[in-house]
Amino acid sequence: MYEIISKEMLTPTICRMVLSAPRCAKAAQPGQFLIVIVDEKGERIPLTVSDSDPEQGTIAIVTQGVGASTKKILSMEVGDSFADVVGPLGRESDFVHIPEEELKKLSYVFIAGGVGTAPVYPQAKWLHERGVHVEVIIGARNKDLLIYTEEMAKVCDRLHICTDDGSVGFHGVGTAMLEKLVSEGQHFDRAVAIGPMIMMKFSTLTCKKLGIPITVSLNTLMVDGTGMCGACRVSVGGKMKFACVDGPEFDGYLVDFDEAMRRLGQYKAEEAAVNQ
Ligand SMILES: Cc1cc2nc3c(=O)[nH]c(=O)nc-3n(C[C@H](O)[C@H](O)[C@H](O)COP(=O)(O)OP(=O)(O)OC[C@H]3O[C@@H](n4cnc5c(N)ncnc54)[C@H](O)[C@@H]3O)c2cc1C
Ligand code: FES
Repeated sequence: MYEIISKEMLTPTICRMVLSAPRCAKAAQPGQFLIVIVDEKGERIPLTVSDSDPEQGTIAIVTQGVGASTKKILSMEVGDSFADVVGPLGRESDFVHIPEEELKKLSYVFIAGGVGTAPVYPQAKWLHERGVHVEVIIGARNKDLLIYTEEMAKVCDRLHICTDDGSVGFHGVGTAMLEKLVSEGQHFDRAVAIGPMIMMKFSTLTCKKLGIPITVSLNTLMVDGTGMCGACRVSVGGKMKFACVDGPEFDGYLVDFDEAMRRLGQYKAEEAAVNQ
């Protein structure tokens, strides 16, 4: 069983849990995700591996309560167990395959939005541990919704906090911060954006303007997570891809974000009925 070892509420609607999952902990790579099932009647919920400790046999997940299943996860306590945890699933981040000497010459900027900050953490940590220059921009609506700021500061060269209302840090969105950094002379070879689909779309448009290649992590709807059901279908470079097996990370320049957003909203009425 996948027991909850620790639980911490990061905001009133976002919690971090450490679970016992020795096989997942051993195999997880940056960019990969899990599918968790709360109980025998539970649906399959994709969540990114936000940290792993192969020696302790534990993994960390960060969950935002947005609907019935994620709210159920938030209500679980230390000592409770998930009925199942499947993973790691999906492809690891491309940078894992870049030779270390080449990687060290690159400069990365991560643009993290909301709960998407948690999936950025293992990627920034992996690169930072290998001596790669990493800057992270974390954006949230206001200071109370920021997560992982202290942890992130330890795994990057420079951390930039942005809030839409200016309650802390830079007053504005993450893409405005990126434009500011570049206008001040900062050079980035690669960008990675993780957050709401709309934020990844605008991060891509900004990176196109600045000439920075960008990777995005697509949080589509998913069912099986193994390439069988088609729920996670996305168009990338005019070709059909499955986010669960071909992704979740893709070249942002090639993603049809408008279609992806339409597909993400296709069960809104049904979700609203369940969540009433
Ligand atoms: C690869 C991947 C990794 C993910 N990692 C994380 C993570 O680390 N932490 C986390 O909190 N969430 C993550 N998600 C999103 C998470 O899986 C969904 O929020 C969850 O499935 C919603 O289920 P629900 O039953 O609680 O809500 P539902 O009742 O299904 O939906 C409630 C509301 O959330 C919206 N929603 C549903 N699914 C998604 C989605 N995939 N993305 C955005 N909005 C959605 C619905 O449109 C609706 O408005 C990830 C998704 C994917 C595909
Ligand atoms: S979730 Fe079913 S094919 Fe990807």
